[in-house]
Amino acid sequence: MLQLQGINAHFGKLHVLHDFSLTIAEGERVGIFGHNGAGKTTLLRACVGDLEECSGSVRYREHAVVSGEVHRNVGFGMGFVPQGHNVFRDLTVAENLEIAGLRHDQAALSEVHAVFPLLLERSQQIASSLSGGQQQMLALGMALMTRPSILLLDEPTIGLAPVIVRDVLRSVTQINRTRGTTLVIVEQNVQATLENVDRAVVIKSGRIIFDGPSSELLAQENLWELF
Ligand SMILES: Nc1ncnc2c1ncn2[C@@H]1O[C@H](COP(=O)(O)OP(=O)(O)OP(=O)(O)O)[C@@H](O)[C@H]1O
Ligand SMILES: [Mg+2]
Repeated sequence: MLQLQGINAHFGKLHVLHDFSLTIAEGERVGIFGHNGAGKTTLLRACVGDLEECSGSVRYREHAVVSGEVHRNVGFGMGFVPQGHNVFRDLTVAENLEIAGLRHDQAALSEVHAVFPLLLERSQQIASSLSGGQQQMLALGMALMTRPSILLLDEPTIGLAPVIVRDVLRSVTQINRTRGTTLVIVEQNVQATLENVDRAVVIKSGRIIFDGPSSELLAQENLWELF
């Protein structure tokens, strides 16, 4: 279980998260939505302890997440894929996956290849020459190499064509089904994400304005009016 309680996050004078509390159960698939600047990325950074000015408490399973100790915190089983293509551009696909693992782990590598067969086919391709969607799959594969129990994904489909968006989201959902991995997905592709998560959380100016079943939002005529 991931539990945030009374989080207040600031960047200097800017108060970004306001007394923010959220509990996510094991195996849940949660979509986090909201306009640009709402605080979604800041929320994910709070989850892994990557904020300097942050009060309140974050717990993951039996662990207290300590601010400033990201490396230690992700060691509790959190896989964090930040916004943008986070791959080592000059290395091959195989080298990227190798580096991302905590140690050489053939079982983890086989699992990643099962979810993303393309990463096996393209093992020797230089990452920078992969397409945008393929690089995103590699970034996700890298996060999986540490066998996380929870995946925190910041806009995994940004910049991808609609048909690829659904591919990536389906792959992520497959990880949840086969490994029971908890998913927290920040997304602008609201419709496609709602189809792949159980629960939706909508944030406006650092506060939750909706938290409920994704089916409730899917049924809304004009989704963005809610935001
Ligand atoms: N390092 C920083 N220094 C100063 N202000 C920041 C910093 N990071 C974020 N902010 C500000 O905090 C607010 C929330 O930013 P955040 O990145 O969490 O938004 P977001 O919901 O992820 O937006 P987007 O959809 O554009 O990614 C914004 O007003 C942003 O300008
Ligand atoms: Mg963001």
